[in-house]
Amino acid sequence: MTATRSRKLVIEGGEKIVDFNIKAFKPAPEEGIQNAVELMRDGMMYRYQHKTFESSHTSMFEKEFAEYHGSKYAVGLNSCGSAMFVAMNIAGVKPGDKVLSNAFTFTAVPSVIHHARATPVLVESNHEWGMDAEDLEKKVIESGAKVLLMSYMRGHVPDIDAIMAIVTKYDLFFIEDCAHAYNTFWDGIPLGRFGKISCFSTQSSKGLSSGEGGIFVTDNEEFAAKAILYAGSYEKLWQAHYNVNPELMNKWQNQIPGYSLRMQEITASILRPQISRLNVINKIHTENFDHLKELFSKNENIEVPQPFPKVTNFNDTMQFHLVGLTREQADQFIEVAGLEGIPMQIFGAGRNARDFREWKYTGDVVNSEMHQTVANIEFACDLSLQPHLGIAEIETIASVISDVLLYVQE
Ligand SMILES: Cc1ncc(COP(=O)(O)O)c(C=O)c1O
Repeated sequence: MTATRSRKLVIEGGEKIVDFNIKAFKPAPEEGIQNAVELMRDGMMYRYQHKTFESSHTSMFEKEFAEYHGSKYAVGLNSCGSAMFVAMNIAGVKPGDKVLSNAFTFTAVPSVIHHARATPVLVESNHEWGMDAEDLEKKVIESGAKVLLMSYMRGHVPDIDAIMAIVTKYDLFFIEDCAHAYNTFWDGIPLGRFGKISCFSTQSSKGLSSGEGGIFVTDNEEFAAKAILYAGSYEKLWQAHYNVNPELMNKWQNQIPGYSLRMQEITASILRPQISRLNVINKIHTENFDHLKELFSKNENIEVPQPFPKVTNFNDTMQFHLVGLTREQADQFIEVAGLEGIPMQIFGAGRNARDFREWKYTGDVVNSEMHQTVANIEFACDLSLQPHLGIAEIETIASVISDVLLYVQE
C-alpha cells in the first residue's frame, strides 16, 4: 500500500499542527527556584561562603551526585568542558601530546584537547554510532597516544567490553565524556564507572539542567583532591568539601594552579532536587522514544540506529537516517519540517558542530579518513525528545515527519 499525506503542509498554505515547542528545555523544579531565591536574598551565592559541607548546596550536590552515580567523589564545575580540561591536566597531557577521541562527537570535546594544547587523534565510529574498538586499537598503535577521551555522543554506546580490553591492554588513561549519558548503562553498570574519571554536563539541554554546569567524577582520592584545586579552591577552602583527605589537600595545595572553574552555589541549588527526577524523566523519555520508534518503523525512509543489547539508554534524543533521499531532498526535508515546527539538523550537513570535517582549529584532523562516521552522519537527523512531550505530541511529530517525507519526494 502506498502511503498518502494526511494534510496540506504549511508551505502549501496549510495549517500548522505542531502547537508545542519541541526543543523547550526543562524548567527548574519549584524547590530549586526557592533554593536559588533564598541564596540571592541572603547574598550567599558563592560556594565557599558556606563554611561546612552541609550548609553548601554545592558540597551537598557533590555528595548526592556521587551517591546517585555510585562513585566515591564528585566535584562541581562550571561546565563539562571544564571537567574534561581538568581531567586532561590530571592525566598529565602536555602541549604537543596526542589524545584519542571520537570522530563523532560535539566540537566541545576536541576543543578541550586543543585547550590542553594537545592534538586529537580521531577514532572511527561503528555502525551503532559509538567508538569503533578495532580502529581504537589501530590508532593507539599508530599514534602512541596514552590518553583516551571517549564521548557517548547522543547517548550512543560502543562495545564497552571491547573498549575496556584495549584500555587495559595498552594501559590507557581513560576519561569518559558522559555529557549525554545520564542513567545510561552497559550490562547494568552506569556509564562513567569504567574510566579513571568521568565528566557530566548540566547545560540546559542535558539530563540535569542548570543553564551551565559540569561534574567531575572519580573513585580516585588524589584525582578528586586535584580537581578541587584546579577548580579554584584556595587556602583552606577545601575544608567545606565533603569527603576530602586533608593530608592530600595539604600536599597539593599551591602545587596546582586554580583555573577558576568553580560551580556556582545557585547552580547547585537548582540541580539538587533534579537528581531524584532522573529516573522519572528517563521513564517518560523511554515511553516516548519507544512509541516514536514503533511509528517510524512503518516508514521506509527512516532508519533508527540500534544499540548493542547490553545497553540501556536515557533516550532523551532520537537520531534517524533518511533512507533513499537525495541530498537536495534531505535539505528540503529539514527546511520544510522546520516550517512545520519540528526543527532538526543533519549532523553531516550545514556546517554542523558535530561534523569532524568542520573542526578547522584541529588542523589536519579535519581530513581524517572516517568512512563509517561519514556514512553515519551524512543523512542523520537529530530530534530532541525532552520530557514535556507526551504520547499525543509524539504522534503529531511522527505524522508531520511522514507527511514532509512524502512531500519532498513528490
Ligand atoms: C558530547 C558533549 N560533550 C561535552 C559537551 C560539553 O558540555 P558543556 O557545554 O557543559 O561544556 C557537550 C556540550 O553540549 C557535548 O555535546
